[in-house]
Amino acid sequence: MSFVVAIDGPAAAGKGTVAKAVAAHFGFAHLDTGLLYRVVGRVALEKIGPSLEEDAVIALATEVSEADLERDDLRTAAVAQAASKVAVIPEVREALVTFQQTFAARAGGAVLDGRDIGTVICPDADVKLFVTASAEVRAERRYKELAARGEETDFDTVLADVQARDARDSERDVAPLAAAEDAIVLDTSEMSIDDAVAAAIAAVDARHG
Ligand code: C5P
Repeated sequence: MSFVVAIDGPAAAGKGTVAKAVAAHFGFAHLDTGLLYRVVGRVALEKIGPSLEEDAVIALATEVSEADLERDDLRTAAVAQAASKVAVIPEVREALVTFQQTFAARAGGAVLDGRDIGTVICPDADVKLFVTASAEVRAERRYKELAARGEETDFDTVLADVQARDARDSERDVAPLAAAEDAIVLDTSEMSIDDAVAAAIAAVDARHG
């Protein structure tokens, strides 16, 4: 039987960590749907260049495969910005729907994290969580992550990047970042990641048993 946990929220709110922990706890499969947009953004930068010309990007989006998600060059700041630009194109989003819904339908349960899982991809998900935090707290976390990986950057640049992505993700016409009406909101600004994980597991437990 399938059981779907939808986890949405803005960049660096902790949803990836929460999603992984929930999946591990219940033995569910996990899909970080941001990686799909990152693959399209990465390949588009390589093959099309910074113009990210729409028709060419749409053609690339139809070719994303599971193997692409394993690439080790998807986590850079440049790829994050490119991902949020290609994610605005309705045809790009459409091209990625079947992959996500097929993943969600697998037997044994699935956790999907992204921006529109509870609202568009899996509106009937068994549990919906919206994990958020203030832009400053998220920028601080992302800054530490990038610095630990040796990427040269500074806090103000990271904060500006986070705010630019928030604006693009929230203001787009198709599938904007938003909490589903029936989502449980977890604000992790002043919550440790362990507490956020515990709250998420309790929410899933209440439905899954
Ligand atoms: O979650 P992550 O930061 O990896 O996502 C990169 C970008 O992909 C986001 O800024 C967003 O624009 C886009 N995205 C999306 N819908 C999703 C997941 C990610 O539009 N379900």
